[in-house]
Amino acid sequence: MNSAPGEITDLDPTDLPRLESLLRAQGLPADDCADQLEHFVGLYAGACLVAAGGLEPAGDCGLLRSLVVAPDWRGRGLGQRLTRHLLARARARDYRAVYLLTETAEAYFLRHDFAPVERAGVPAAIAATRQFASLCPDSAVCMRYRPDNS
Ligand SMILES: CC(C)(COP(=O)(O)OP(=O)(O)OC[C@H]1O[C@@H](n2cnc3c(N)ncnc32)[C@H](O)[C@@H]1OP(=O)(O)O)[C@@H](O)C(=O)NCCC(=O)NCCS
Repeated sequence: MNSAPGEITDLDPTDLPRLESLLRAQGLPADDCADQLEHFVGLYAGACLVAAGGLEPAGDCGLLRSLVVAPDWRGRGLGQRLTRHLLARARARDYRAVYLLTETAEAYFLRHDFAPVERAGVPAAIAATRQFASLCPDSAVCMRYRPDNS
């Protein structure tokens, strides 16, 4: 295994192939990553992108999307580091709320102060994102984080 990941970095176009393969290998949608790349951060171990996630702006809210940690690197707090980083970014931007869709990690996000909400009730700008509109299956659970905890 490569050396431990260092700092969280913003991703750029040179990272796109690694991001897409990391997501697709875990069965997560990656078709809109090229368009949203500027909103992604990641963690490298040597030349390997081992974890990534994005906070896509959508009106006065954010969409936490494509959080992924390579299987060999799970359980070491990388997901938590990225989640906290992206939620701090959401607070710095004064987002009213952060939404996400997940098929496999509802319990994980409950631990990060997200709560399940009806998908039909999300703001129009969130519903219009490609993740909501077409890429994530209807079976995915919708969750919301509110910075002010209201
Ligand atoms: C969810 C995910 C990002 C967590 O990354 P990670 O780096 O392993 O997580 P952390 O090390 O920060 O946290 C580990 C803790 O979370 C728990 N956890 C990890 N994945 C979980 C899941 N899917 N559901 C519930 N708990 C989970 C672990 O059991 C561990 O608990 P512990 O601290 O009590 O031992 C990673 O499992 C992953 O990439 N999953 C596949 C992609 C996915 O589902 N992404 C979310 C959709 S946006």
